[in-house]
This record gives sequence, structure tokens and C-alpha cells, in this order.
Amino acid sequence: MSDTPPAADTRLDGRAAIVTGAARGLGRAEALALAAEGARLVLNDLPGDALDAVAEEIRDNGGEAVVHAGDVADWNTGEGLVKASLAAFGSLDILVNNAGFTRDRMIFNMTEEEFDSVVRVHLKGHFVTSRHAVTYWRGVSKSEGGPVYGRIINTSSEAFMIGAPGQPNYAAAKGGITSLTLSTALAVGRIGVRTNAICPRARTDMTTAIFGAAPADGPDPLSPAHVSPLVAYLASPAAESVNGQVFMVYGGHVAALVPPTVAEVASAPDGAAWTPAGLAGALRVPDGGFVTPYPKLG
Ligand SMILES: NC(=O)c1ccc[n+]([C@@H]2O[C@H](COP(=O)([O-])OP(=O)(O)OC[C@H]3O[C@@H](n4cnc5c(N)ncnc54)[C@H](O)[C@@H]3O)[C@@H](O)[C@H]2O)c1
Repeated sequence: MSDTPPAADTRLDGRAAIVTGAARGLGRAEALALAAEGARLVLNDLPGDALDAVAEEIRDNGGEAVVHAGDVADWNTGEGLVKASLAAFGSLDILVNNAGFTRDRMIFNMTEEEFDSVVRVHLKGHFVTSRHAVTYWRGVSKSEGGPVYGRIINTSSEAFMIGAPGQPNYAAAKGGITSLTLSTALAVGRIGVRTNAICPRARTDMTTAIFGAAPADGPDPLSPAHVSPLVAYLASPAAESVNGQVFMVYGGHVAALVPPTVAEVASAPDGAAWTPAGLAGALRVPDGGFVTPYPKLG
């Protein structure tokens, strides 16, 4: 008899997965990683050859993939993605919310359109797909009288906790996605759905201006391939006990975050209300406020 523990069940054979923003960057890497574990893919992005090429790449590798293009923040696209999964594969097991874009500008210069469009594509784009997926899973749970297999992996960003002064729209949207993740985890965890969020770093079209070109030699620590294994793990049966978590991930490091903690309390004597002047003398606040310094892993 061997003392080796049984291998964790990270296979996804036959499971149906939606990945949004799958034409390039992190979404493409995540779709390929899910397919490599045996998942059948519904790929979403804005219409274009790049999306079709990812589907072809999955099929060339022996996998299954269909394309459902469209604006991910559109209600009909969200509904259509779930329907496409049911039509092609008879089920939906995994939803990876990833699509989005940036329109960076300081708050004093930001236009209404720049704010609305970024909050819409990220935050509403996560809500719409999640809404249709969990409605489907709730229906299955009711008709079968028990828990379902459901996984949602949302894409937040460290921008939600570091302040990101040049990204008021993006930071706010990612903060919203983190809160949406927790709300969803609590709302549908009891029917078996596991909802978690990742804060990745990767060299993609979105970040080449920040991270620059890949190193000429050796592995790229900011390759999207360093992020996709976490997504495949969270999508798998092995992550059954992981719900309502937020992870940072890049370059071979995966960090599980803890929620904000109370740093200082000023309590008025005998439960009385503070006066402003009393608070001015008694309240101590942490240096830097609520903002987390840019964390360095490893
Ligand atoms: N790259 C990083 O370092 C990093 C860091 C933190 C968070 N993120 C997040 O990761 C996700 C993926 O980013 P990426 O770096 O791969 O960027 P990317 O630009 O390479 O890919 C984003 C994809 O989303 C698609 N998309 C944009 N709007 C869409 C819409 N309305 N409907 C459907 N698809 C749409 C784009 O066409 C593109 O293919 C984003 O949510 C991003 O905010 C990335």
C-alpha cells in the first residue's frame, strides 16, 4: 500500500464552460487551460477572427469549442451564452467572467462615457452572465432536488484595493466585481455554486504599456499561462470547498487575500454619540487610509 494521497480531482472531462473575452490575453489562456483538462468551451468575445482562431486551436488539440460572440454586458448576450452551452453541450458547469477594456484617465479629466463604458463592460458584464448562469443552476437544483455543480470565476484586479489614481472607472468596477463575487458566493453557495475572484497580473494587449515586452530569454513571469492554472483549479471538483475567496496570481505565485480588518476603534463613553470635536481628539486613523500598498509576492 502506498502512503501517497489520492491525486486531487482537477479534471474537467465533459464539463461545459463559458469564457468571456476569450479571443486573446488571459481569456484565451484560460479557455485553453480548461480545454486541456477536458472541458467543452463556449467562447465569447466581440465578433472577429481572433475568437474563431481560439475555437479552432481547441478543436485542433482534440477539444470541443463553440463560439458565441457579442457584447458581454448586453443582457441578450448573457442569456445567449447560457443557451449556447445548453444547445451545444446539454449543460453549463463553469462560467469564467474575464472580458473587459480600460479607458484610463485621472478623475478630473474623465468623461462620462469613459466612466460608464468601463463600469458597464466589467461590472455589468460580470453581472449579466452570472445572473443567467445562476438562474439556470437554481432551476436545475429545484428540479433535481439537490445541489448542482456550478463554478463562477470572476476577474477583479489589484486596482480595487490599491487606489489606482489613473483608473477611477476601472478601480470602481473591479471593487464592484469583488463585492459581486462575495454576494453571489453567499446567495448560491447553498445550491452548490462556488464563486471566487482572481486579481491577475499578465503581459497582454491591455498591459503592454505598463509591463513592456516579454524577456528575450527564459520563461516570462508575466505570461497569462501563470494565471490560467488557478482558473482551471477553481473550476474543478478539487475546489469544492473554495467559495467567496479572492486571489492574487502572477509569475508562479498565488495568494489568498483576507478581508479588510478593523484597525482602530474610538468608542464614546457609555454609548453616547461623539461630538466632532471629541472625535478630532480621539480618533486615530491608519497611515494611508484604506488603501493597500501594491503587494509583492515572492
Ligand atoms: N493583464 C493584467 O495584468 C490584468 C490585471 C488585472 C486584471 N486584468 C483583467 O483581466 C481580464 C482580461 O484582460 P487581458 O489583460 O487579457 O486583456 P486583453 O485586452 O488582452 O483581453 C480582453 C478581451 O476582452 C474582450 N472584450 C472587450 N470588451 C468586450 C465586450 N464588451 N464583450 C466581450 N468581450 C469584450 C476584448 O476584445 C479582448 O479580447 C480583464 O477583465 C482585465 O481587467 C488583467
